[in-house]
Amino acid sequence: MQPLIISKPEVIKTSKDTFVINQEVDLPDALDLILNDHQIVIEGTYGLGLKLLNLLHGFLKDRHPDTSFEGQRVFRNAYQKYSNKVLLQIQSYRIKTRKSPTIGWLQKLYYGNEDFFLSFPHVQGLNSAWQWYIKGVDIPVLKNKIHPYYNTYFPTRFEHLILFDTWLESYNGAKEFAYDVGIGSGVLTYQLLEKGFDKIFGTDTNPNAIKGMLETTKSSGLLSRVELDYGSLFGRFGYQVELIVFNPPWLPASTNLGRIDEGIYYPERLFPSFFKDAAQRLLPNGKLVLLFSNLAEVSGVTKVHPIREELENEDRFELETLEKSKVKKASNKTKRTQNWRTKEEVELWVLKLKT
Ligand SMILES: C[S@@+](CC[C@H](N)C(=O)[O-])C[C@H]1O[C@@H](n2cnc3c(N)ncnc32)[C@H](O)[C@@H]1O
Repeated sequence: MQPLIISKPEVIKTSKDTFVINQEVDLPDALDLILNDHQIVIEGTYGLGLKLLNLLHGFLKDRHPDTSFEGQRVFRNAYQKYSNKVLLQIQSYRIKTRKSPTIGWLQKLYYGNEDFFLSFPHVQGLNSAWQWYIKGVDIPVLKNKIHPYYNTYFPTRFEHLILFDTWLESYNGAKEFAYDVGIGSGVLTYQLLEKGFDKIFGTDTNPNAIKGMLETTKSSGLLSRVELDYGSLFGRFGYQVELIVFNPPWLPASTNLGRIDEGIYYPERLFPSFFKDAAQRLLPNGKLVLLFSNLAEVSGVTKVHPIREELENEDRFELETLEKSKVKKASNKTKRTQNWRTKEEVELWVLKLKT
C-alpha cells in the first residue's frame, strides 16, 4: 500500500507582528488588528477566543447584509479568512490557553511536534471530530457505534442505509467476498459483515479513512476480514467477487477537490472508470449495488444521472432493481431556502452484467 500521509490542519507560522490578548477589554482592538491582517494569539481563556470570533461574525454580518447565495458566499469567505488569524498555542499536545478542551488528535496527528500554533477554527474542528471519534456515532442499521477518524466522511442521514439493509436481508447469493469502494468510516462494510459476508475488500482515496479503518478493524478483531487499500476505485485489488457496493459522492464537482469534498463531489471521469473496472471484477452472477440520490437533479445542479447514463450508453450492465426512498422533510428553519429538499429521494441501484 502507498504510504498514508494523513491530512490535518496546517501548523501556522507566527511573525513579529503577531499580538497576544489576555482579557476581554482587548477584544475591540483585537478585532481591528485581525481586520488589518494581523494574527492574534488567544491567551487568557479559551472562552476569550470564542468571544472574539463572535464579535468578528457580528461585524462581518453587518458588513455583508446581502442574504442571496452569492452574498452569503462572500460573507463566508471573509469569515474564513479573518477567523483563521485567531490562533491558539499548543504545547506538549495540549492547548496552552486555560479552560480549553482536551483534544487527543493533537498528539495523534502532530506526534513529534510539541510546540506549535493552530488557527482557532481548526481547533474547533479538531474538537468536534475528537468528540465523534471517542464517543462514537450511532448508526441505526448497525449494532455498534462507528468511530470516524479525523477528516473522514460519515453519514448523518440514514434512508439510503436502510434501503441497503432491506435489500441485504433479501439477498440470497453467495456471501464470500465483497468490495466496498470508498469505504469512508466503514458503515457499508459493517452492514455486510453483520449480514454474514466473510471478507470485504475496502478502498478509499482519503488516507485518513484508511488509517481509521486500519485502527478500528484491528481493535475489533476484524483485521483478517477487512482488507484495505489506499487508492482509487478498486486500488490494487483485482479479484472477482459476488458483490460490489459503492456509495459514491452524489454531486458533480466543478473545481478543485479538498479531501473531505471527495466524499461529496465526484469528478467527471469517476463513474465511467468505476463501471469499466467493476465489470472486470464482478463474477458472472454477481451484483453491483450503488447508493445514490436525485439531489443533484432536484437542486438544479445537473440533469445528468451517471448511473442512468451508464445503462443507456454502455453495453456492460443491465438494471435488476431500483428502490427509492423519500428523504425526511427538512426542518422548518431550512424549508424556505431548500424547497427542492421535499423532492429529494435516495436510490438503491442493483445492476448485473449483461449476458
Ligand atoms: C459518500 S462517501 C461514502 C462512505 C461510506 N462508504 C459510507 O457509505 O458511509 C464516499 C467515499 O468515497 C471516497 N472516494 C471518493 N472518490 C473515490 C475514488 N475514486 N476511489 C475510492 N474512494 C473514493 C471518499 O473519500 C468517501 O470516503
